[in-house]
Amino acid sequence: MSVKLGMIGAGGIAKSHMNALKKVERAKIVSIFDLNTEGAEQAAASVGAKVAESADALLNPAEIDAVFICVPQFARGDLEEIAAKRGIHVFVEKPLGLELELVARKEQAVREAGILNSVGYVLRYYDTVQKAKQYLQGKTIHLIQGFRIGGSHPAPWWSQQHMSNGNLGDAVTHQIDMIRYLAGEYKEVTAQFGRNTIKTLKPEATIPDAGAVTFSMESGAVGTITESCLSSFHSGSEIKFIGQDFFLQLTGNGKTLTIIDNTQNVTITSKQDPVYEQDNAFVEAVAAGSGDSILCGYADGMRTLAFTIAAYQAAEERGTVKV
Ligand SMILES: NC(=O)c1ccc[n+]([C@@H]2O[C@H](COP(=O)([O-])OP(=O)(O)OC[C@H]3O[C@@H](n4cnc5c(N)ncnc54)[C@H](O)[C@@H]3O)[C@@H](O)[C@H]2O)c1
Repeated sequence: MSVKLGMIGAGGIAKSHMNALKKVERAKIVSIFDLNTEGAEQAAASVGAKVAESADALLNPAEIDAVFICVPQFARGDLEEIAAKRGIHVFVEKPLGLELELVARKEQAVREAGILNSVGYVLRYYDTVQKAKQYLQGKTIHLIQGFRIGGSHPAPWWSQQHMSNGNLGDAVTHQIDMIRYLAGEYKEVTAQFGRNTIKTLKPEATIPDAGAVTFSMESGAVGTITESCLSSFHSGSEIKFIGQDFFLQLTGNGKTLTIIDNTQNVTITSKQDPVYEQDNAFVEAVAAGSGDSILCGYADGMRTLAFTIAAYQAAEERGTVKV
């Protein structure tokens, strides 16, 4: 059975999905919508789909089984709710939004409609991240150290805090999510953000250029995440999970895993394409009518968003905020 898909948004991440979905045998992209008509036409031509007249017209249950929502977080309106009401299964990119109230309303709509739902926390699909999750079961972590340092997204929306939620909300959200996925729920957060470079380099930008976040977990572990989106000579990401009797480190957005303990000192680099794994899992879920293969659903993705919101609130209040 082929799974008929619509795609809303034809920008950078939509192209990654289109490339991955070409390799998913069951997947058939039938229609695409983007405000940029030329972009939509090019994308549609590359996969043999039609260009829809509007996002609303694309969300037609007679034509599609599921939709990939790949527009930025500020531009999603009530697309998830419309899809849910029409019984169309939803894949939506991370982060789920910019504030929790609206996202919670969408979560309720998705849950009550009973549609399958998947969120683009793609790094969960690496076999290395799965191995890390298995290894950490039952282990006592006392310290978590994470960072993500690198460049900025080139699109103008990305440098506007009210459209992207900054580097922490848009990019570092992957590291925030990975920590939750591997070590359980966050409890409290404190944070500071700076604009030391961006205020002169890019005066129209409203996002911070660096952040330093400290947190505690429900388990009792504590940790830090530091981040920069303006670093030309040093980039990368890493999360270290430290216990008295083990050390586990994920680098390269989870692609490379190191585990050291009394019996081993191993480093493994994944050969997988996590976008393919993620998209294949969603398409298989739709074909099977069961979400078992999906590693991050809408309610789960909303918990990751809660951390970003709490971190910005903590910075503003100069205090500690419950996640
Ligand atoms: N999972 C990941 O690793 C990953 C990677 C990159 C981006 N993303 C997420 O994907 C989303 C899009 O990012 P991107 O890099 O593709 O951005 P982009 O700027 O490259 O593309 C966005 C596209 O959306 C279109 N668009 C904007 N508003 C629209 C609207 N109201 N209706 C229809 N089309 C509209 C634009 O014309 C553009 O083609 C963001 O939420 C981003 O965080 C996720």
